[in-house]
Amino acid sequence: MKILITYSSKTGNTEKVAKAIHENIPQASLLPISEIVNLDYDLIFVGGWIDRATFDQTALTLAKQIFDKNVAYFFTLGAYPDSDHAKDCITNIETLLKDNNNNIHGGYFCQGAIDPKLIAWFSTLPSDHKMAPSEERTKRWDAAKSHPDESDLNKAKEFALSIMNSIK
Ligand SMILES: Cc1cc2nc3c(=O)[nH]c(=O)nc-3n(C[C@H](O)[C@H](O)[C@H](O)COP(=O)(O)O)c2cc1C
Repeated sequence: MKILITYSSKTGNTEKVAKAIHENIPQASLLPISEIVNLDYDLIFVGGWIDRATFDQTALTLAKQIFDKNVAYFFTLGAYPDSDHAKDCITNIETLLKDNNNNIHGGYFCQGAIDPKLIAWFSTLPSDHKMAPSEERTKRWDAAKSHPDESDLNKAKEFALSIMNSIK
């Protein structure tokens, strides 16, 4: 079985998750989306970072090109994993993959540290702006800082095994 693990990652969080998945599926090809040559695989793990409640543009563009495949997805996000926002991300990504008649075997996601440059920019916003620092937001950004951590990566490895068991 030909397996691809492919990802988009701006600051390295999603790449860490991709590498963890690969550790438990070493026979798979591990490629950043920019290096994919074709989609001639039996199973594709597609990963991205979250931008406006869905895959970032690179992962989104790729996901729209995957049709009639066995797929699994993964992502990292700044929001809490148990938030409504995370649920929206799952819905948006799964809808995208299902619309192309793909067979979704599962998904994995965890929090990922937010780019300090983005946080610095948030700090320049007027206090009534919806992304300006507030007590709640600052707490969430701080909580994201340590992710993905060892536990997140161990869960990504377990996810990899569960997907492989599901398609045996
Ligand atoms: C431009 C931009 C937009 C983002 N939008 C969201 C968002 O809508 N929701 C969210 O939870 N996180 C958002 N984030 C946070 C990233 O998804 C998160 O930090 C992710 O782990 C980055 O992954 P990477 O290191 O693989 O690039 C955004 C980050 C950037 C830079």
